[in-house]
Amino acid sequence: MRKIVIAGNWKMHKDLEGVRAFCKAIASSLKTINIGQILPILAPTYPFLALMQRELGDTTVKVAAQDVSAHAEGAFTGEVSAAMLSSLGLEYSIVGHSERRAMHNESNEIIREKLLLLMDNNIKPILCVGETLEQRDAEITEKVILEQLNGCLSKVNIYNADDLIIAYEPVWAIGTGRTASGEQAQEVHRIIRNWLHHTYHQDLADEICILYGGSVKPENIAELLAMPDIDGGLIGGAALDADKYLKMIEIAVESRK
Ligand code: PGA
Repeated sequence: MRKIVIAGNWKMHKDLEGVRAFCKAIASSLKTINIGQILPILAPTYPFLALMQRELGDTTVKVAAQDVSAHAEGAFTGEVSAAMLSSLGLEYSIVGHSERRAMHNESNEIIREKLLLLMDNNIKPILCVGETLEQRDAEITEKVILEQLNGCLSKVNIYNADDLIIAYEPVWAIGTGRTASGEQAQEVHRIIRNWLHHTYHQDLADEICILYGGSVKPENIAELLAMPDIDGGLIGGAALDADKYLKMIEIAVESRK
């Protein structure tokens, strides 16, 4: 059975005190929840990765990076390499988020480079794909998603289902309060799983976690998790609030009972 991943993408939010307060607020509560097959992940900004690892070291939370450099090492001011993240002991990193694609012109080719560097350094990528509103209205959602998958994962070997997480994040649902319905999301998740089946093999396709992202919150996560191919959420806004984050973990736990 696939895990349910409750991943918080904090984007450029929270300073030192904010990170500390959040960790303090969730650490003791998490110890009292029987988390079972739920995998909580949190992605703070780079400066606070090590702090969060320390603060949440006794919990089941995995700390993730939000992005990584497309270069291995060298004169790239401001960049952080996969090897550096790996040296911290990180196991996960988001890659290809639509904000990076849109604001930093990241192409599928660049995202593929990043993804390969992550994998070479034993970090599991959380690969984001998703269509814009214009693309959805033009009824090319499937084409766009398949292009992104083919571009980012072209000739990328996946041996273990745990080596990759995919997050379907329709751009029109991110930070807008407008969530895809369970059915709308499920339709695309099915497309992704079918693609995994054809590109890799059935067992792998059945086991890889596919998350939904875009205005996920305690009020709508149960409907999303009830869908057969939705294995969790990549959550921005609602994951900044410790109570909401814990609530979503509790709902995920319930959904598995
Ligand atoms: P949101 O962000 O939950 O605030 O819509 C999701 C994301 O961008 O990963």
